[in-house]
Amino acid sequence: MLEGKVFYRGNFVEAGIEVEDGIIKRVGKLVKGKKVDGVILPAGIDVHVHFRDFNEKHKETIETGSLSALHGGICLVVDQPNTMPRVDSEEIYFLRMEIAEKKSYVDYSLNLALTNKNAERIGEIVRRISERYHLPSIGEVFLEHESEELKISYETLSKVANTWKISVHAEDATLVKRGSPNFLYRTKEAEIVAVKRCLEISNFHFCHLSTREAVEMVENSASSFEVTPHHLLLSIEDYKTLGDFVNVNPPLRDKSDAEWLLRNFHKIRILASDHAPHSEEEKKMGKSGFPGVETMYPIFVRLAKLGLISFKDLVEKIAVNPAKVFGFNGYGEIEVGNLANFAVFDLKKVEKIGAKDLHSKCGWTPYEGFEAIFPTQVYIRGEEALENNLRLGKTLSNLGSRE
Ligand code: DOR
Ligand code: ZN
Repeated sequence: MLEGKVFYRGNFVEAGIEVEDGIIKRVGKLVKGKKVDGVILPAGIDVHVHFRDFNEKHKETIETGSLSALHGGICLVVDQPNTMPRVDSEEIYFLRMEIAEKKSYVDYSLNLALTNKNAERIGEIVRRISERYHLPSIGEVFLEHESEELKISYETLSKVANTWKISVHAEDATLVKRGSPNFLYRTKEAEIVAVKRCLEISNFHFCHLSTREAVEMVENSASSFEVTPHHLLLSIEDYKTLGDFVNVNPPLRDKSDAEWLLRNFHKIRILASDHAPHSEEEKKMGKSGFPGVETMYPIFVRLAKLGLISFKDLVEKIAVNPAKVFGFNGYGEIEVGNLANFAVFDLKKVEKIGAKDLHSKCGWTPYEGFEAIFPTQVYIRGEEALENNLRLGKTLSNLGSRE
C-alpha cells in the first residue's frame, strides 16, 4: 500500500508495506505500493493529554484536542482524569468514553482518578471499567495537594500502589508555594522529595519529570517515567517571551537543567506532551499548562533531522515505549501483525510553528516560531486521515487494542 523509507526494526529501510483490514501484512523490499516522499514512521502515542471537554469546553474538547493530535502525527492518546467533573467513578468514565467514541479523530484511552474520596471503592471501579475498556493507569494522582478534591496522601497511595499501575504527578504539594511566575515558588525539591517517597512505596509511572535528580533516581528502577517537550526545550529564560504564559506544573527550570535533559534524551523512557490547554485569559490569570500534542512529534522530527537526537531514540520514546509501558497491543512499531498506524514526514518541509495553524481550541502555543516538520500524511488502521480530517478514532477495548 505504501512504499518508501520505512523505519523498521530500528533502522530506515527502502521497503513497501502491505496492509489488510487495517493490519500490517507484509513489510519488505519486494512489496510494492504508493511511493511517498519522506520517511514513514510509526504514528506517535501521547500518554499524557488533558482534553478537558465536559464543563471546560471553552478551552478544549475531545474533538478539537484529538484533531490537534492527528495533525501532530499522533494516533493514540491517554487522556487524564482531572476534568470537571473528575473521572473518579465508572459512570463518568463511561460517559467520557462514549463522547470519545463519537468525537475522537485518534484512538482514545483514559486514566481513572484516584483521590482520598474514591480510594475505598477503587477496586470495584477498576473492575467495572476493565470489563469494557483497557484502563492504561490510575492517575495522574496529585500528592498531598492543597485542594481536598485532588489530594492523595502517601498513606492512601501506599494502600493501592502495589495492586495497580499508578501515574503520579510527582510534586509534593506541602513543599509547593503558590505564586506567579510559578518557577520562583515550585522548587526542584518538591519533585525530588515526591519521587523519593514514592519509590520507597512502590513502582509507578512518573509523569513529566523535570529534574536530573529525579530522572537519575527513576531511570534504573522498575518504575517508568515521561519527560515533556517543554522541559527539554524551554527554560526560565523563556519568561522573556512567554511572560504571563510561562506557568506550567512542574515549572520550567534553569537552562542547564533543560540542556542536561536534552543531552540525555536517550535515557528518557517516554516523551509525552502533558497537553494542558487553557485560554489566553486564563493564562493571564496565572493558570498552569501548555498545549503540545500537535507540536511534539513535528519539533522532535526536526531535531532528529538536525542530528541532535537519533530517529531511533525518537521512535522509541514516542511510540515503542508508550505502547509497552501501558500495554497497547498492536501499537508502537511498524511490524507485521500490528495496526497500520503511520506518520509520513517529508524532511525537506521545515515550517515555522504558528498558533493560527494549529487545531487546539486554546489558540496559543509556547513554541511560536519554532521550526518543525509536520506530517504530510497520517494513517490510522491503514486509512489516510489527515487530508480530509477523517474521524477514525476508536476507544480501546479491554485487550488494549481495537480488534
Ligand atoms: O501544568 C499543568 N497543567 N500540569 C499538570 O499536571 C496539570 C495541567 C492541567 O490540567 O492544567
Ligand atoms: Zn498533566
